[in-house]
Amino acid sequence: MENSIDSILKRYKPGRREDLIPLLQEIQEEAGFLSVDAIVKIGRHLGLSTTKIYGLATFYDQFRFIPRGKIHLKLCHGTTCFLNGSQSILNKITEETGIGPGQTTRDGSFSFEVVPCMGGCNKGPVILINDEYFTNVQADQIPELIKKLKYLAEDD
Ligand code: FES
Repeated sequence: MENSIDSILKRYKPGRREDLIPLLQEIQEEAGFLSVDAIVKIGRHLGLSTTKIYGLATFYDQFRFIPRGKIHLKLCHGTTCFLNGSQSILNKITEETGIGPGQTTRDGSFSFEVVPCMGGCNKGPVILINDEYFTNVQADQIPELIKKLKYLAEDD
């Protein structure tokens, strides 16, 4: 992993602080989350303190500082999905898994992320579970869905 962080950093000019967000995005895309090591390396490269980077990155919902779970739930919370009930789905997921957006369960089974529009508004609310899209999801389907996913996570 260290090598891929280094090779990403090489493509960015040192000291260009305006590159912070794209850099964080690219490293997270590659590693799945932003490790302490990654933050330290980014800080050195751009000339920013780790405190400043954490301060900025935690402001954005998209950044994760812990690894993903075996089952990663990505819920769309864009306007259309929100109007169709994504808030109740969010609450239900939290109720069933014990984690909120940006968190991973202690046993590493589930991680949960909330994102803006995923481009399937006419079929919302939309959830992406690992690589599979679930559309027109309703909050009352969540308990059964999580139950099934728990079996899957245990099987792995
Ligand atoms: S708002 Fe959810 S897919 Fe567009």
